[in-house]
Amino acid sequence: MNILGISCFYHDAACALIKDGMLIAAAEEERFSRIKHDSDFPKNAINFCLKKGKIMPQDIDACVFYEKPFLKFERLLLSILYGYPCSLKLFQEAMKTWLSKKLWIKNILQEKLGLPESKIYFSEHHLSHAASAFFCSPYEEAAILTVDGVGEWTSASLGIGKSYWNGSHGKNSLDLENEIRFPHSLGMLYSAFTAFLGFEVNEGEYKMMGMSPYGEPKYMEKIYKLIHINEDGSFVLDMTYFSYTYHSEKTFTDKFTKLFGKPRNPKARFVTDKTSLFDDPNPPTEEELKINQYYADIAASIQKVTEEIILKMAKYLHKKTGLKKLCMAGGVALNSVANYRILKETPFEEIYIQPAAGDSGGAIGAALYFYHVILGKPRAFVMKHAFWGEEHGENSIHEFLNKEGIKYETIEDDEKLFERIIDRLMKGNVIGWYQGAFEWGT
Ligand SMILES: [Fe+2]
Repeated sequence: MNILGISCFYHDAACALIKDGMLIAAAEEERFSRIKHDSDFPKNAINFCLKKGKIMPQDIDACVFYEKPFLKFERLLLSILYGYPCSLKLFQEAMKTWLSKKLWIKNILQEKLGLPESKIYFSEHHLSHAASAFFCSPYEEAAILTVDGVGEWTSASLGIGKSYWNGSHGKNSLDLENEIRFPHSLGMLYSAFTAFLGFEVNEGEYKMMGMSPYGEPKYMEKIYKLIHINEDGSFVLDMTYFSYTYHSEKTFTDKFTKLFGKPRNPKARFVTDKTSLFDDPNPPTEEELKINQYYADIAASIQKVTEEIILKMAKYLHKKTGLKKLCMAGGVALNSVANYRILKETPFEEIYIQPAAGDSGGAIGAALYFYHVILGKPRAFVMKHAFWGEEHGENSIHEFLNKEGIKYETIEDDEKLFERIIDRLMKGNVIGWYQGAFEWGT
């Protein structure tokens, strides 16, 4: 049985192929189109998956989309209505993409893959996230935590995954019992600060996490003005500080900048006392150091607040389920610093996070959810590595370089190759290294 999972039209479009419950191939469209976070229909990723699985579109038994577009559209319309008249521009922009393609996923899949309507299914966004972690994990039972910007309505969910099998008889279940709903969202809060610190939303979050060790969490109290956090990790945002419900580009309001000051210029260099490790031919001024230290302290503060919320959620989830194993997914589950603290500071003893924990991973989750929960098929797959993408052998590399007229040199002796690389690295050069199949996820 061949099941194709697809995610697209928001960010990180991807495709995954499951054959009798085993993952055959998974790839993000950006790896083929060379457009970072490409959200367009993943035609190249689909072609790759079909080729790798040695199947034709007519051999697909089910194609599962990772979220429910009409529920998402409902959320968008209600947000726009609530934000009127400030949301007029968002309305215009959103209608263009929703009416032209986002609403018609079923038709698009039918047309592009030549599939009948009866073979197309939809999973919910956070169920896809949850399934992408639990059904790739080696656990028969685990607590599940998904946290992201937003799916249809949900921005975080807590639940439990179970697989009980005795021979060929058994059951898989995935129950998300608690949730936090839009507009209250930890992912959106984190992204608002990502934008404030001059990074691109849905891209620069890891840069903000990387910026945080250069600062001190001095402004947590200020951030707590934006969010009320309960003991179980649930929270409510004060929406007067945020504009993402009615604005397509701006995520925070003037009230936010009144509290935190001027946003960081995205083009300015980031330099503090801790970053200036080498002799700088253009040393930073006192003023530059001071303002950058402030931004680093903001990054450290929002990172710490995020960690505190995730820790509270994880502790509550453990108390509720009594389980020692945790599966995590959603963009916020890529916050490795927070994940390490879960392992260190909560009773969870093991954590499983699938490498494509963000929305691209929804493709694999949707397919696995359909196979294991809807069809009730037993599990046989555990994701132990991330090399599910396309592979180019030596011959095809030579062929490409010759065709493009690119100069190259072949070094057969590994020792010589390593020496050359070490030498270049010592001189401060950057080395690109390609080997094996490309990775699934970040
Ligand atoms: Fe998501």
